[in-house]
Amino acid sequence: MNAPTYAIPGSPAPPPASAPAGAEAPAAPRTVADVLRASQVEAVLEELERDLVGLAPVKQRIRDVAALLVIDKLRLALGLQAQAPSLHMCFTGNPGTGKTTVALRMAQILHRLGYVRKGHLVAVTRDDLVGQYIGHTAPKTREVLQRAMGGVLFIDEAYYLYRPENERDYGQEAIEILLQVMENQRDDLVVILAGYKDRMDTFFKSNPGMSSRIAHHLDFPDYAAVELMAIGDRMLAAMAYRFTSEARAAFDEYLARRMAQPHFANARSVRNALDRARLRQASRLFGDAADPAARERVLDETALTTLGESDIRASRVFAD
Ligand SMILES: Nc1ncnc2c1ncn2[C@@H]1O[C@H](COP(=O)(O)OP(=O)(O)OP(=O)(O)O)[C@@H](O)[C@H]1O
Ligand SMILES: [Mg+2]
Repeated sequence: MNAPTYAIPGSPAPPPASAPAGAEAPAAPRTVADVLRASQVEAVLEELERDLVGLAPVKQRIRDVAALLVIDKLRLALGLQAQAPSLHMCFTGNPGTGKTTVALRMAQILHRLGYVRKGHLVAVTRDDLVGQYIGHTAPKTREVLQRAMGGVLFIDEAYYLYRPENERDYGQEAIEILLQVMENQRDDLVVILAGYKDRMDTFFKSNPGMSSRIAHHLDFPDYAAVELMAIGDRMLAAMAYRFTSEARAAFDEYLARRMAQPHFANARSVRNALDRARLRQASRLFGDAADPAARERVLDETALTTLGESDIRASRVFAD
């Protein structure tokens, strides 16, 4: 596959690659279908649609970005001016709303459409970028950028890079290096800043340079109870487990209670709850040494895959 070569303002355009004598140059794409066939990007878009519950506005924005890149490919094939579009993004939302999951898919899409060379995701937080002592920050930040080059750099809770209460905070140094690379190497690195919406807004107000480099703001809403249930069903199916109908009703009730409690973390809490239910199922099947007969029982597929009502109701969430 031919990666498009984008011209970045201020850097000379690379010379056109000349096909070796005798070799058949691949036909330039002329239709959207040509690009989709060559890039296989539709498979990722379909997976995104199928695997992720809800998130309709997020999915739409990702399709829009994919469309932009596809049309850019057709423009490039006709020799039209195509500047690397700025694709740095900001994903805001509460914990467990799917930000990291979507960033991974985004990296795949960018790779298949030839925007980045490798399509991997490097996830970091402030501590990976900022050093403790003078002179430590720049090399740390550059090392991370080097690792992320050709893919996506995902900075979780990015606002911690900026600590105005600390006059000589080294975070500022990391921000400045990031800004430079986000501008000059944007044809081979996409930066995604993630975190809570209100804190991110405050961060952008104090860092207009960063704000102006972010082209796409995607907001990840909290999931509704029915979406959490659907997410739970998918997670279970993926792990080859199932609920009895009583267990499913109990889990519905569990979710309603858990959502009202502190530290509720959307889909992450669903995953954790299911992991604990699996643990309870396992110890139920494991039995205890006082009942050796139970241990002789054959555990068929139904027994091994079924989570029962007691596996859910034993949760602390029901203890009041
Ligand atoms: N819409 C969804 N459909 C199915 N599974 C989902 C969905 N959103 C999240 N998940 C699952 O929930 C878990 C948490 O998601 P993820 O790590 O992407 O959230 P996050 O927003 O990055 O959270 P955090 O802020 O805690 O890092 C993952 O196992 C993910 O696969
Ligand atoms: Mg995450």
